[in-house]
Amino acid sequence: HIFHSIRCTRPQDAPILLLSTTTYYESSFILGLYFSALFNYLNISDLLRDGFGSRPFFQCLIAEANKDDAMQDTDIVGFAMYYYTYDPWIGKLLYLEDFYVMDEYRGWGIGTELLKRLSQIAIETNCSCMHFLVVVWNKPSIEYYMRRGASDLSTEEGWHLFRFDKENLVRMASGD
Ligand SMILES: CC(C)(COP(=O)(O)OP(=O)(O)OC[C@H]1O[C@@H](n2cnc3c(N)ncnc32)[C@H](O)[C@@H]1OP(=O)(O)O)[C@@H](O)C(=O)NCCC(=O)NCCS
Repeated sequence: HIFHSIRCTRPQDAPILLLSTTTYYESSFILGLYFSALFNYLNISDLLRDGFGSRPFFQCLIAEANKDDAMQDTDIVGFAMYYYTYDPWIGKLLYLEDFYVMDEYRGWGIGTELLKRLSQIAIETNCSCMHFLVVVWNKPSIEYYMRRGASDLSTEEGWHLFRFDKENLVRMASGD
């Protein structure tokens, strides 16, 4: 039996956050290549500055687990990274940016426990809902969220996610 607990992240967790996200994306070869390139943009000091500096841009719940009763030498086995956004129609909402449980610890209810804690945080902070993105081929995750009552805003309301990349920003910022 796996005993687990959920806590808020600490600056010491920054390396594990990077490692976990890398492992996550490495599980798909093509995406792994893409994201290893992407992850070169971020290093531990970026995460420390952005998550634990004077203006934190994200918060994170950490799931720790141990396979024995003693709860000594707990391992970090999952995390949920989130932040708050604002909508002029519905007010505050909790945005779940990244949600991950290590492969060998899946199916033990750790994800459900993280979602429970996130839901409590959303309610305590007066958020009207929780938003998150799932890529269309990630069928197990789509089913996981749907089983818990999530709505697909793209099919139900026709929303599409858009992006201005850095090149666009530089061009628009310079007024060209
Ligand atoms: C989505 C994710 C965080 C869920 O974490 P988890 O700790 O496995 O979640 P739970 O144990 O609460 O639930 C797992 C579900 O899969 C089933 N399951 C059983 N054994 C499983 C296993 N070995 N692996 C995965 N799922 C299993 C469980 O029965 C459960 O079904 P339910 O939805 O009917 O409750 C995890 O699968 C994950 O990290 N996936 C890869 C990353 C990812 O795609 N994240 C989401 C990005 S949007």
